[in-house]
Amino acid sequence: MRYYISDLGQYVGQKIELKGWVYRTRSSGKVKFLELRDGTGVVSCVFFRGDCTDDVFTRFDELTQECSLKLTGTVRKHPKHEKVYEIGVTDFELIGTSKDYPISPKDHGTDFLMDNRHLWIRSKRQHAILKIRHEIIMSVRDFFDGRGFTLTDAPIFTPAACEGTTNLFETKFFDEKMYLSQSGQLYAEATSKAFGKVYCFGPTFRAEKSKTRRHLIEFWMVEPEVAFNDMYENMELAEQFMEYIVQRCLKNRPDEFKTLERDISKLAPVVAPFPRLHYREAVDLILKENPAFIVGDDFGAPDETIISSKFDKPVFVHHFPQAIKAFYMKEDPSDRGYAMGSDLLAPEGYGEIIGGGQREESVERLLLKIAEHKLNEKDFQWYLDLRRYGSTPSSGFGLGIERAVAWICGLAHVRETIPFPRLYGRSYP
Ligand code: 4AD
Ligand code: MG
Repeated sequence: MRYYISDLGQYVGQKIELKGWVYRTRSSGKVKFLELRDGTGVVSCVFFRGDCTDDVFTRFDELTQECSLKLTGTVRKHPKHEKVYEIGVTDFELIGTSKDYPISPKDHGTDFLMDNRHLWIRSKRQHAILKIRHEIIMSVRDFFDGRGFTLTDAPIFTPAACEGTTNLFETKFFDEKMYLSQSGQLYAEATSKAFGKVYCFGPTFRAEKSKTRRHLIEFWMVEPEVAFNDMYENMELAEQFMEYIVQRCLKNRPDEFKTLERDISKLAPVVAPFPRLHYREAVDLILKENPAFIVGDDFGAPDETIISSKFDKPVFVHHFPQAIKAFYMKEDPSDRGYAMGSDLLAPEGYGEIIGGGQREESVERLLLKIAEHKLNEKDFQWYLDLRRYGSTPSSGFGLGIERAVAWICGLAHVRETIPFPRLYGRSYP
């Protein structure tokens, strides 16, 4: 039988065996302490001369940070804290030594920690972040699975660009030139014609040669697509989705938020509906604080912060100028020059976390857009077929998981949001 720290409450008074790693040690004469972590939690293990043999008490001094061990002892309630337990150790056995563990409790520089990411992920803070990431991913799946969506994952090797050609990651597919997927959207559009409501969820790649706190080269994106949905139904889906994720994290991950010292009062108001601004309204807000902003341009990070700082919930900006949006976006027939898409900006300066909208459903107009964007028509024949055979209005969006994790956890940089980040200038470990 394996026992885990997260379940200690069930074994009070019993002698059990735990397996894990030494997080920290401390001794004060007659008592020695060890903080043991096993991935499910951390527990204080008390070595008291009298409870354990002299040999065990002496061997304690061999234990070093991050060595692995097997330990037996009695589970006790913490004398002061509710729902906290400790172990009165009787014996232990060292399994794997750990000499000169590079990450000590002192402060290390970011580069050092990133070089040691494979070890850094053992720390309490990184553990809390990755637990919340997992909760977010589980809630993404549960949200769509619970609403009749079918998961239809898209390929990673793709012959054509979805999100413009400037940040395409080129690779080879034997002798053919290929790209790593920037987005599964075009494929989700195809499967939505087969299943009605679909989502894809996988890694996506953007060769962005910029070092910002929001850009990864490889990031995970979840992309729902719904046949017959228009851009407004799409925003409704997105706001219900974000409410579900945030509220579920608040409910299930209070300990992790505490570890991160996250001000969760900032997340509590994330309840649908979210405010919506037309691009022109958003620009009016920006111009008051950034008069240099050029109307018609996309927003920079500071512009997004100006907008999001006005609200305590995420805010949609819709109807961006058609000229700055992807080839597949539908132009609004009643608002010429503007696209039927929306971005969702997270509060507290986190900026865009979702991009999406309604797709162009006419073959003729799509052909014009493909030409305008200087894309190769041949690569898009299959995509054009979706308009040739039973075309429908169709809408969907993409949520960047790492940006969501950064915001929900309140982190300064996306590098901590994924186990092994790929950033411009960083591909190790
Ligand atoms: O706005 P984007 O480019 O939209 C699409 O890719 C659409 N095809 C999605 C769709 O409609 N199905 O990207 C969507 C989201 C962004 O809002 C952002 O959260 C994330 O993907 N994202 C990045 N995250 C981290 N690093 C990057 N370099 C990112 N680029 C986009
Ligand atoms: Mg975008």
